[in-house]
Amino acid sequence: MDQIKIRGGKSLHGTIHIGGAKNAALPLMAACLLSDQPLNLSNLPHLADIATMTNLLTELGVNVSMNGAAPAGYAGRVFTLDAKKTTDIIAPYELVRKMRASVLVLGPLLTRQGRARVSLPGGCAIGTRPVDLHLKALEQMGAVIELKEGYIDAKAENGLKGCHVIFPMVTVGGTENILMAATLAQGETVIGNAAREPEIGDLAKCLVAMGAKIEGIGTDTLKVQGVKKMNQADHAVLPDRIETGTYAVAAAITGGEILLKGARLDLIDAVVDVLSRVGVEFEDTDTGLRVSRTNGNLKGVDLMTEPYPGFPTDMQAQFMALMTVADGASMITETIFENRFMHVPELHRMGADINVQGRSAIVRGNQKLSGAPVMATDLRASVSMVLAGLAAEGETLINRVYHLDRGYERLEEKLSACGADIERVQA
Ligand code: UD1
Repeated sequence: MDQIKIRGGKSLHGTIHIGGAKNAALPLMAACLLSDQPLNLSNLPHLADIATMTNLLTELGVNVSMNGAAPAGYAGRVFTLDAKKTTDIIAPYELVRKMRASVLVLGPLLTRQGRARVSLPGGCAIGTRPVDLHLKALEQMGAVIELKEGYIDAKAENGLKGCHVIFPMVTVGGTENILMAATLAQGETVIGNAAREPEIGDLAKCLVAMGAKIEGIGTDTLKVQGVKKMNQADHAVLPDRIETGTYAVAAAITGGEILLKGARLDLIDAVVDVLSRVGVEFEDTDTGLRVSRTNGNLKGVDLMTEPYPGFPTDMQAQFMALMTVADGASMITETIFENRFMHVPELHRMGADINVQGRSAIVRGNQKLSGAPVMATDLRASVSMVLAGLAAEGETLINRVYHLDRGYERLEEKLSACGADIERVQA
């Protein structure tokens, strides 16, 4: 099994290209199921989760082809997804258990085919993460849903019907599933308390290009007039704001300066706001975002994770790694997931002083981190170990690299190009 070995203490200087957003790419790929005409997606990142979604779509009969070079201005991959002849409506356990986002095929399959069987995703490392809100909303739209043998068996033989769905809590995946389902439903669907994450705006833009009628994009109320048929479309995936934030922390934690090429400042306002208060500098340039921490010490700052436009839960672990070396204390409160502090014991092993009380963690900074063998149980926790390793004295060995490969493309290559001493090794 691969491991990542880091010898810390190097300040990072250089340029990193930010790829397309994983969390936008996954629902966008699922959206191909809504049409019998091809969907061309560019700026797709090269990640394990994208491969899992490709395998799932292929099982469903989608023809997925990689289309050579990206159009000018985009570095990512270009895929054509053609769901002309979908042959199956089953998303099997073997694929869904690898990646929860597989459940995003439910809405599109059900609304176009009138039937879907999708494995229940089950628990995951960061909490129970049920899909009850997706299912309740689909039932409101007229679906008949049974849970049996570990599967969601959903039927809507005469199609889904528009209605007023109000989510009792903000759910990104739930909003995406219902938004896609509503495009081909009869009549109007109004989604209230919709998630406003930029990835949802990106999905909505692509759906509009495919022929959907959507109002309120970017707000918490989405109004969808169902159409009979969706068409062909071309869409470029927006840049990954979590990859952007992660490398901004890499610049900050090593006291360096990195140009994040292709990054968009407007997608990470909350992160920039918090990191600026910590003492990180940002400059928006024509080619991307320049991040530096060249003067003075970092300062401990409190934060709470929130749905967009608040501080993203997907940046919490990285921020915590940064706070371990800042001056003073920081209180970090996780409000989205109930069990998202698994990085804490591993950071302890590297010398961090962190005390978890319920949903909050108190980080006492000013610690000299030291390298250690560590292991993490999810994607963002793993990358927080990488960041701590970059700042630590000595060698850090990160196990279970497959978590990193789910969400960070060529991580070690990008960091070593900026002067990090990091390599992938075989255990
Ligand atoms: C998405 C992101 C993930 C991010 C999360 C929150 C993708 C592929 N993944 O995950 O990286 O961390 O948003 O920003 O985009 N919930 C329920 N019932 C439901 C649905 C959700 O109780 O039916 C709860 C979840 O357990 C969680 C909270 O709602 O506590 C938010 O989850 P949700 O926004 O749905 O996250 P995902 O779409 O799974």
